[in-house]
Amino acid sequence: MSAAPFAPASAPPAAVASEPVASEQVVPRPDYGSAAYGEAYSRINALVIVGEAMADRHFRRLARLLPHDHDELRRLGAMEGRHAADFVRCGRQLGVKPDLALARHLLAPLQQQFDACEAAGDVVGCLTLQCLIIECFAVAAYRTYLPVADPYAAAITAAVLQGEDAHLGYGEQWLRQRLVLVREPLERCCRQAVPAALSLLERLRADLEALAIAPLELLAEFVACFQQALEAIGYTPRQARLLVARLAGAALA
Ligand SMILES: [Fe+2]
Ligand SMILES: [Fe+2]
Repeated sequence: MSAAPFAPASAPPAAVASEPVASEQVVPRPDYGSAAYGEAYSRINALVIVGEAMADRHFRRLARLLPHDHDELRRLGAMEGRHAADFVRCGRQLGVKPDLALARHLLAPLQQQFDACEAAGDVVGCLTLQCLIIECFAVAAYRTYLPVADPYAAAITAAVLQGEDAHLGYGEQWLRQRLVLVREPLERCCRQAVPAALSLLERLRADLEALAIAPLELLAEFVACFQQALEAIGYTPRQARLLVARLAGAALA
């Protein structure tokens, strides 16, 4: 992390239009056809495509770990595969080639953590990583992107968001039924994965800002979503608030 995480970029994206969304709130729209937008989009779009494909694989592997829910988990994985294809089309629509190699490199720590949990038979870790942390990060990213997306991507993103809520719901339900047993492995998983996920915001800060996505707003959405998820699985509001504060604080230190 730099000394001033999520500080505004020195050159904000050139807004070509604005759309009022509330009485006093105006959302600036970037120039979707500019070279600067396309450059940044090649990295953010790639991260989304590789992240969705990774989620597809994770749900297929969870289906093997949890045979009782095999069909449901395969269904959720297939949704992720469709999300990946949807976002490939968003890039094509803008004439942008996604930087998939960079995205695979950036997501490798999360992939390796899932691999390690699976190898150790740590089902709680696998579920926490995919269904809580990665899904909350995706929800936060898509909620923040939606108001500034180009019209083609906005329609896709709105539909994808509904799917991510279902994935989050599966993890919340499974973990809630076993909270006493899962609390320790869940928090152990979070201590490694939350900083790894949040480090992406700093790594891609300039690209996010070129797309008119405020990294700080994305972080705030993640914190809110993750706290809500912890409460949904049985943490008290105070316990959830403190855990999220500790994790976010460690990530930003
Ligand atoms: Fe997805
Ligand atoms: Fe998902």
